[in-house]
Amino acid sequence: MTPDLRTRYLGLELASPIVASSTPMTGDPASCKLLADAGAGAIVLPSLFEEEILNEEIELARSLDAGTEQFAEALGYFPNLDTFKGIGERYLARLEKTKSMVKVPVIASLNAASTGGWVRYARLMQESGADALELNLYHVVANPDVTSSDREEMDLELIAAVRAAVTIPLAVKLAPYYSALAGFARSAVAAGANGLVLFNRFYQPDLDLETFDVVTKVALSHPSELRMPLRWTAILRPQLGSSVGLAATSGIHSGIDAAKAILVGADVAMVASTVLRHGPGQVRVIRDELAAWMAEHEYESVSQMCGAASAATVADPTAFERANYMATLHSWSSPTGLVGA
Ligand SMILES: Cc1cc2nc3c(=O)[nH]c(=O)nc-3n(C[C@H](O)[C@H](O)[C@H](O)COP(=O)(O)O)c2cc1C
Repeated sequence: MTPDLRTRYLGLELASPIVASSTPMTGDPASCKLLADAGAGAIVLPSLFEEEILNEEIELARSLDAGTEQFAEALGYFPNLDTFKGIGERYLARLEKTKSMVKVPVIASLNAASTGGWVRYARLMQESGADALELNLYHVVANPDVTSSDREEMDLELIAAVRAAVTIPLAVKLAPYYSALAGFARSAVAAGANGLVLFNRFYQPDLDLETFDVVTKVALSHPSELRMPLRWTAILRPQLGSSVGLAATSGIHSGIDAAKAILVGADVAMVASTVLRHGPGQVRVIRDELAAWMAEHEYESVSQMCGAASAATVADPTAFERANYMATLHSWSSPTGLVGA
């Protein structure tokens, strides 16, 4: 029997739990169509960054101001507001185009660190047809005057501000680096998140020893990176209950990886690196591999499978928590037989 791959995420009915995560590929409507044709249950667009919106507004204001003391004929040099298409507008146009080309839900994405007037873009995304919104909270808190509770407070204000701007479902993409993630996750839901995306990948800068330049280059993920989302999905699923959407992202490269994510409680498994590496058709490969695994292990549906191995159901729930640390370290055995043999 073919397993039923349907799932529910953020209140949306999806035909498949394999979701195309936010990447440059999903910024191209034609590629989104290929991803949907390959069986993606939903598509998350690349993020529109708070800084992009703010820079654009500053540029626009500067070019308008520049002419105020000039002669009237100079007005011809200034951008015509009716035809001025900035990054934000181009984003919304691409969103509309993608919506017109695919039948699966399209999730728009905002990347931000602070509240402000730019939050209106959340509403504009909704008006342009987004089925849901993903708010990507990405920050590196390097200011020693900012405490972790200050930062968390700002994040919660931001979630509440975006929540207030839209009526469509809201997912929040989190970093794993909160000191008390379970508490923050619960607060994020209380502030208005309908779901959590676990986790944002942090791109660490490197140093070029010849030029002393800071090198920023995206490295695609490795399947071992799935372990962190697995742990936290397993812990959070029973705590947050089934009404909160959970998406696993980072290190999902195969149907087996997707099966693990769903078993610990994810409603959807998001894929980015493997699709960038192998092309949109990789979604079909992963989906078929998941279906084959389910059939082999006699799971009839994703809903039957979801959370079957979360912290609430596994024989030893502490295996996902601190107890696991000592056991993991003690599990090491030397391939040379010289140390700890
Ligand atoms: C080139 C590239 C661009 C990305 N752009 C975004 C983005 O704009 N917004 C976002 O939330 N995540 C972005 N991501 C993160 C992915 O959506 C995904 O969460 C992350 O890569 C982990 O999944 P993976 O292991 O399947 O790659 C990007 C990832 C890559 C590789």
